[in-house]
Amino acid sequence: MGTKLIIDTDPGVDDALAIALAALSPDVDLLGVTSVFGNVPLDRTTSNARRLLELFGRADVPVAAGAARPLVYSKPRDAKEVHGGDGLSGHSYTLPEATRPLEERDAVRLMLDLLEAADEPVTIAPIGPLTNIAALLAAHPGAAAKIARLVIMGGGVTFGNSTTAAEFNIWSDPESARRVLVEEDVPVVLVPLDLTHRCAVDADWLAKLAASGPIGATLEGLTSTYRQHYTRVFGEDRMVMHDAVAVAEAISPGILHTETYRVDVDCGLGPARGQTLVDRRRLGEDDPQFSPGRPIEVAMDTDLDGLRGFVLDRLTGAAR
Ligand code: RIB
Ligand code: CA
Repeated sequence: MGTKLIIDTDPGVDDALAIALAALSPDVDLLGVTSVFGNVPLDRTTSNARRLLELFGRADVPVAAGAARPLVYSKPRDAKEVHGGDGLSGHSYTLPEATRPLEERDAVRLMLDLLEAADEPVTIAPIGPLTNIAALLAAHPGAAAKIARLVIMGGGVTFGNSTTAAEFNIWSDPESARRVLVEEDVPVVLVPLDLTHRCAVDADWLAKLAASGPIGATLEGLTSTYRQHYTRVFGEDRMVMHDAVAVAEAISPGILHTETYRVDVDCGLGPARGQTLVDRRRLGEDDPQFSPGRPIEVAMDTDLDGLRGFVLDRLTGAAR
């Protein structure tokens, strides 16, 4: 069996594609899914995660609910204008009802139990705010030894989306993001907007997904509001599958080309709150001017058509 994986998620249209990518990949051992507030409130992200797994025929995968709000400051807004009021372009009703009950365990306990039970280190793909991950590592520091990598969709090297400076997942809980990206010592791959935007897919890609069968048709049917948002952003009909880019790296290590940098997070209350400060200065490791924290891998490039084809093949079964 291939990659042992846990996904922490706030579905979310691009989360839906990311969860599908893992759930439909025969070489991925999807151990569990944990939900977090984000694109829409926790009750919605949790329901969406469970019903998406039902759609993919993966009622074998446990789902546990996590944080309903950020660690410190209350969260000013969600992303309903991007993902729709239900998080899935108003089409969550097209998903089957979940047959597997929600775990009684919370997200942190489920992640801890799965890590402890695993016979090898586990990859975790956080594709929403990092509140659950910070809570896990704060409450159970020993869990870090069983985490192979955190492959995180988040941040921006040169731009933001929620604000001009900050990307949504980081902006939603900067304190938790800083704990994970700066203070902890777990291997991290950070997948920022600068790369996910370049991996945007077009109408032809989405048409192939829709034509691939009932799962692909239902998935494509979840994208309308989100696709309209990115058509406005790009001025042409394209859609960014941020979270699927991160999960592609989680399940196919090396598909993204990374560079090693220290990354700080602005936790102030000013206009740059939530900004990821990627330190690309060529300083010596012991230089007192260096950013705090430790070097992490930042995904800066990939074979764009190869990445798009990888995701489409997995979603449509062409690779099964
Ligand atoms: O900024 C993009 C990220 O924020 C994605 O994870 C998207 O689902 C939203 O959560
Ligand atoms: Ca997300």
